[in-house]
Amino acid sequence: IDYFNIETYSAAANWIKARLPPAMKTVEVGIICGSGLGGLADTLEAPRVEFEYKDIPNFAVSTVSGHAGKLVFGYLSGKATVCMVGRKHLYEGHSLLRTVFPVRVMKLIGVHTILVTNAAGGLNSNFNVADIMIIQDHISLPGLAGLSPLVGPNLDVFGARFPPTSDAYDYDLRLIAFKASQLVGIPKECMQEGVYCMVAGPSYESRAEARHLRTMGGDCVGMSTVPEVIIARHCGMRVLGLSLITNHVNQSLGKSAKLEAFSGNAATASNNLAHDSNIVNHQEVLETSDKRSKDMQALVKTIVKLM
Ligand code: 6GU
Repeated sequence: IDYFNIETYSAAANWIKARLPPAMKTVEVGIICGSGLGGLADTLEAPRVEFEYKDIPNFAVSTVSGHAGKLVFGYLSGKATVCMVGRKHLYEGHSLLRTVFPVRVMKLIGVHTILVTNAAGGLNSNFNVADIMIIQDHISLPGLAGLSPLVGPNLDVFGARFPPTSDAYDYDLRLIAFKASQLVGIPKECMQEGVYCMVAGPSYESRAEARHLRTMGGDCVGMSTVPEVIIARHCGMRVLGLSLITNHVNQSLGKSAKLEAFSGNAATASNNLAHDSNIVNHQEVLETSDKRSKDMQALVKTIVKLM
């Protein structure tokens, strides 16, 4: 594991600061764009500059997936903003500290509020595909098992050794998010609030795992977000999290071979009931985030205006 020191972060921050237009010497808002939500960065207004991760000192470059990451700077609703497009995931083989590296760099260039977006599977049966869930709280399975981005020497310049994570998702920002959803005309019944569960991936949850996540209090599940939120809270940033529900997570039992073998019937009614062929795939996830991408963009823009 690479344990970075403050110089590692400030080298990246100083490289960026030296290249920002004079009007952008302090950047206020950071947005982390989840899968399919990178279009947000296209809505940033002039003066606008982009830096590819590969050009910024010490940034993680993905060798596995094709999509390169970049930071896009510009104005959104009158506020100097940076969008992180192409976030790094734990499942790509990066250390968690590498995946959250840009968040600390954002802090060093002045960002005080961060909006984290993601695509997630719905566990709550009241949720519909294409709903938007404002994150109220989280459960990180990797986190509880020892995979925290804060493992390693504590960097006191960023924050304390043992930061709290209760109330990580700012109440006032959540209020603003719901008000903004009304202003942009997203129906009330499409706006949810709940608990985001993080799993490491890259495989999707099994049926039994999905039931487990629901039972432990999860409303949706995804493979990102929590590490960034923990790092942001550690250094005192305000956080808002938005999950786009791209699919419903299958929590039915699955077919029982025993029931079928011993019933004498090819397929009993109860066995058919236990099976549900609604299996998630990456295509469905991308299609849904595509459908809602304009709404997400309008929502984020209005949130930034109201905050
Ligand atoms: Cl169903 N599971 C996980 N872990 N991440 C997702 C998802 C499901 N749908 C979108 N992202």
